[in-house]
Amino acid sequence: MASFNRSSPVNCDVDFNTKNIENKTAIVTGGANGLGEAYARALVTAGVTVVIADRDIKAGKKLEEELTGVKFIECDTTSWDDQVRLFEAAASFSPTGKVSFVIANAGIHRKDEVFAYTGDGKPPEKPDLATIDVNLIGTLYTAKLASHYFIKQNGQQPSESQEDTCLILIGSGAAFLDCPRAPQYCATKWAMRGIMHSLRGTAFYYRSRVNVISPWYVKTNILSEEAFAHVTSVGVQFAEASEAGECLLRILSDSTINGRSFFVSGKKWSTRGYLDLDIDDYQRDPLIESIQKDQVRSAPVEMGLFV
Ligand SMILES: NC(=O)c1ccc[n+]([C@@H]2O[C@H](COP(=O)([O-])OP(=O)(O)OC[C@H]3O[C@@H](n4cnc5c(N)ncnc54)[C@H](O)[C@@H]3O)[C@@H](O)[C@H]2O)c1
Repeated sequence: MASFNRSSPVNCDVDFNTKNIENKTAIVTGGANGLGEAYARALVTAGVTVVIADRDIKAGKKLEEELTGVKFIECDTTSWDDQVRLFEAAASFSPTGKVSFVIANAGIHRKDEVFAYTGDGKPPEKPDLATIDVNLIGTLYTAKLASHYFIKQNGQQPSESQEDTCLILIGSGAAFLDCPRAPQYCATKWAMRGIMHSLRGTAFYYRSRVNVISPWYVKTNILSEEAFAHVTSVGVQFAEASEAGECLLRILSDSTINGRSFFVSGKKWSTRGYLDLDIDDYQRDPLIESIQKDQVRSAPVEMGLFV
């Protein structure tokens, strides 16, 4: 049972077996391109049935045709109705009728005008908050539907008959680093850790887990060619999409991994291109640990899933 206890970092420098996730079903939002595509491809190699949700119909259909055991569902994650339909379609496509893993990957990065100063003496214009809509609101819809399906499948009373389920949230370097000029993107990526902290202690009631994967720079469509070329020109080494895919399998195949943040670092900072950041626990800081104890004093985990 993956009830949450503060543990030492997961060793990511080991071989692992994906046998126990074979024949499970996963949803990958934003799975038609880039890192989402890499998650989908990795899952397929592990024998997982994959439902890709994306608003890019052309790329999604192409992947569906190419990969065995993959279904594409057109879906804009900012639409609640689209996501309800997505989960219904995934449950009916699943050979077992169950959805075991949900990878809430759909995300965008836009020029962020929240703090831009127009300086023309007029009141500033209302900022475009599309990044919040996709990266945060869309992800919360996905997280809500994931927990709904996990609870529907497993009930709320821990028992041996429950089957492992896992929600994966996608952070970024912007989920733990200083990233100037990107307040929305940073806010949404830190928020992934916030959602994880809020779920990880009680997810065991429905035999679930929640973890964050934070990729370093990976060449995808999220930034323009010029933007990536600029990052390369100043000497930054990129990570590979396939390393993110392997990181996902490492987490899913070990049902004891819960409540942790992983960094897809590339080979510069780890042997396999990903590592457990170990940034979400308190035991090394007695002050924060003590505050955390008081935080849950009025509503401890033992009170149940919904208080
Ligand atoms: N590439 C990087 O360097 C990097 C680094 C850190 C984090 N990330 C995160 O990884 C995730 C994937 O990014 P990527 O680099 O693969 O980007 P990408 O642009 O290459 O792919 C994103 C996919 O999501 C889809 N998508 C976007 N908004 C959607 C919506 N509202 N509904 C459905 N589908 C939608 C797009 O159509 C596309 O297929 C994002 O959450 C991003 O923030 C990427």
